Amino acid sequence: MMRRLRMGMIGGGPGSFIGPVHRIAAELDREIELVAGAFSSDAANSRAAGECYRIDPARAYASLEAMLAAEAAREDGIDFVTIASPNHHHLPAARAALAAGIPVMTDKPLTATLEEAHEMSCLVKAAGKPFGVTYTYSGYPLVREARARVAAGALGTLRKVVVEYRQGWLARAAEGKQAEWRVDPARAGLGGCIGDIGVHAFHLAEFITGARVNEIMPDLAAVVPGRVLDDDCTVLLRFANGARGALLASQIEVGELNGLRIRIYGDKAGLVWAQETPNTLELHYNDGRSEILHAGGGQLGPDSASRTRTPGGHPEGYLEAFANLYRDFSAQLRGEAAPLLPGIADGMRGMAFIDTAVKASRAGAGWVKLED
Ligand SMILES: NC(=O)c1ccc[n+]([C@@H]2O[C@H](COP(=O)([O-])OP(=O)(O)OC[C@H]3O[C@@H](n4cnc5c(N)ncnc54)[C@H](O)[C@@H]3O)[C@@H](O)[C@H]2O)c1
Repeated sequence: MMRRLRMGMIGGGPGSFIGPVHRIAAELDREIELVAGAFSSDAANSRAAGECYRIDPARAYASLEAMLAAEAAREDGIDFVTIASPNHHHLPAARAALAAGIPVMTDKPLTATLEEAHEMSCLVKAAGKPFGVTYTYSGYPLVREARARVAAGALGTLRKVVVEYRQGWLARAAEGKQAEWRVDPARAGLGGCIGDIGVHAFHLAEFITGARVNEIMPDLAAVVPGRVLDDDCTVLLRFANGARGALLASQIEVGELNGLRIRIYGDKAGLVWAQETPNTLELHYNDGRSEILHAGGGQLGPDSASRTRTPGGHPEGYLEAFANLYRDFSAQLRGEAAPLLPGIADGMRGMAFIDTAVKASRAGAGWVKLED
């Protein structure tokens, strides 16, 4: 019988957001089990988190280094590390794990800065181990269906892409654990909103269309008084094939929750997908017909059907999309292909987008090339 892969987590301490999501998502399909962690830089908090996750107390470590050393000495040591700590910690965590020969699944953005991302990329290539980046939205079944339909030519020639990621929770001065590091350049990195959610929108646009953005015109603002990093972003896009588009990302739009939505138009049809209603995908054709695809429906292709657990009308959502990325990663760890899992190249691409957008906006540079 296939044994469960053993996961060690960095971050995900008491009160954190994404660590518990990683735990649920990784374990959903019973291919992976959380067995160890350095959940906080504070030893007592790491122990407290270990209790909540119901792991062996001896495997809730005070630091990543302690975890890697102790787990290497066990016969049942961890198979991979998940990084769910703030952005500035992604590179040191990945560096230590890869040096110990341990595969890595890291949350986005890849690193705090593009310079760090270059180092990460070299380390990943040298290590030759599976490496995934949790761009969550690429795990939704209907996002994968949209990608497959675009690739099969359903929209015709790509003409326009509009992707929005709207939130309102940082419309006031930052309060609380999640907010506080996100507005601090020392921990968030070069980008604020653009690195936190703009990078998701950017990945989604390239993931579904399969097209590359090769020029951008960014206008990034720090709207809340005293804020150093951007919190409201407008970026015009030009794709390599001549298609145009716009990316809007904001965390100061009062009343918006997690409003990620993408609209893509070709010469034959357009499509719309929205994260807050993720189980439908709209297609609108040039001859006036419209089609609504439902998750779990029999008309969906293999990329989507293989990552759906319930029949139509029994909604799956954020946690299951996240779990799909872990299914891909688990396949890679077992030596199987899982080409839709974002990897180091997608992580680098996101960092190039953040770096170019922030620097060009600050310089008022207008249209700039987005280098690979
Ligand atoms: N994929 C997504 O949809 C998504 C969503 C939210 C956050 N994220 C990303 O996940 C990361 C964490 O975000 P969050 O919202 O969970 O933050 P958070 O502040 O809620 O949690 C961060 C956790 O990391 C721990 N930590 C900090 N330094 C550490 C260290 N040196 N060693 C071990 N643990 C340490 C903290 O104690 C805390 O428990 C960020 O990179 C963020 O961009 C991704």
